Amino acid sequence: MPTKNIIEMKNINKLYPGIQALNGVDFIIRRGEAHCLVGQNGSGKSTLIKILSGVEKPEPDSKIIIDGELCNHLNSKISMEKGIQVIYQDLSLFPNLTVAENIAFGSNREKHSKFVNWKNMDKIARKALDEIGVNIQLHKKVEELSIAQQQLVEIAKALTVELKLLILDEPTASLTKREVNSLFRVISRLKEKGISILFVSHKLNEVFEVAEQVTILRDGLKIGVYSPKELDHDKLVYFMTNTREDKNHPKPLEDDADVILNVKNLTKARNYKDISFELKKGEILGITGLLGSGRTELALSLFGMNPPDSGEIIFEKQEVKWRSNREAISAGIGYVPEDRMNHGLIMDQPIIDNITITTLLSYVNKAGLLEDGKRLEMLNEMKEELKIRMSLPEAAVKTLSGGNQQKIVLAKWLKVNPKILILDEPTIGIDVIAKNSIHTLIKVLANLGMSIIMISSEIQEVQTNCHRILIMRDGKILCEFKPDELTEDELLEKYNLS
Ligand SMILES: Nc1ncnc2c1ncn2[C@@H]1O[C@H](COP(=O)(O)OP(=O)(O)OP(=O)(O)O)[C@@H](O)[C@H]1O
Ligand SMILES: [Mg+2]
Repeated sequence: MPTKNIIEMKNINKLYPGIQALNGVDFIIRRGEAHCLVGQNGSGKSTLIKILSGVEKPEPDSKIIIDGELCNHLNSKISMEKGIQVIYQDLSLFPNLTVAENIAFGSNREKHSKFVNWKNMDKIARKALDEIGVNIQLHKKVEELSIAQQQLVEIAKALTVELKLLILDEPTASLTKREVNSLFRVISRLKEKGISILFVSHKLNEVFEVAEQVTILRDGLKIGVYSPKELDHDKLVYFMTNTREDKNHPKPLEDDADVILNVKNLTKARNYKDISFELKKGEILGITGLLGSGRTELALSLFGMNPPDSGEIIFEKQEVKWRSNREAISAGIGYVPEDRMNHGLIMDQPIIDNITITTLLSYVNKAGLLEDGKRLEMLNEMKEELKIRMSLPEAAVKTLSGGNQQKIVLAKWLKVNPKILILDEPTIGIDVIAKNSIHTLIKVLANLGMSIIMISSEIQEVQTNCHRILIMRDGKILCEFKPDELTEDELLEKYNLS
């Protein structure tokens, strides 16, 4: 008889230098259930997953039972053999190989076959994709697929071996609502086959939609296990953080606020077309719309990195034609990119260096030396303000949890104090409370006169935090509205954004 629980973890402890990532955690996943793991950034979610997948070892005295069997010396090979597959925050496919090759790679390799059997490969891949009800061209290269499709390929790949538990670490962070829905359909299909799903997400509405059980972690401790019926949004946030959210809208703009930026008929072939809008001093302007609607390309143009073909950018009453981001930065524009992993941080370098890189000159003393004391002061201030959970300033940025890495990127720009700050999806992967403190901070900065352009796919985020909102689709501005003019549901419906 199969056991009721596919996973039983008992007394899981994990120490890293200077930090206890997990503290006596007990954790159970039942067969065929969707289980969500929630908690603030750095609360230990990814660490627990790494232990379960054998990538990290827990401290002695921890106990892990998989499918009824005690596994004392788990490593990633054993974990996979036991039917556990993980899809990490950053996907691990080979971009230059085809869909079929990526999916069938693992199962081919297992047979130690020296020869590639192309026909067989296609068959394996097609079967796996069929199992999750997804249709993707087998011979397309993975690099040509959207993130959502790549994720589905990863899931299909996981199905080519015997799968008992599929772990998804923040799978929906960069998906549109439509893609999220299709991922959820895939999850239900897997559940019907008796496969369990462990799912990490900061999007609490999704947690309620998918999970049968929710385990809450806080600072490495397990706070409890609940069914969504026992929770609501506010309760969950309270359990995760021990505090309550502030949901204040920004202060209204002064009627006579100066226009700091005026964009007129800006056009760039294949990017965006005929974009016109104004931004006032102290204004928070939201730009939303589906991914791929040209928002990021537009933002890059405003930051001097993607020159437009025609149209005008008028900054502080003068037309500007920035040829590089350096020119834009010295004029007073800041930009926090969407793809922070690649463009925002130097992963192997210390936290302290990353966070002070944009403001380095201000820590140089008269003798031309860097003053570490001042740099530490800045780090500590930001750590407090954004609730960055970290060990030592000298630790490499890559040792921080995903959400805390993002806070470092944001912090380094906040300190520059630009006149216009462009934030591209500023809170993806960031937990509710940190998200809230970022929103509060943005509103404080705007109140002090900084103008902010906030690009976000999350309608609610722009609804509560912006003075005015533009919706973009296919490179054009579809409409402009004030947050109180439309509800989220009306918007989704009217502009078909879901
Ligand atoms: N290799 C490492 N060396 C040192 N500290 C680490 C290492 N890996 C994780 N940590 C620390 O352990 C804690 C838990 O990190 P973990 O990645 O599990 O958080 P998380 O809950 O997944 O957060 P997020 O929501 O931001 O992804 C964090 O404080 C992190 O800095
Ligand atoms: Mg994580």
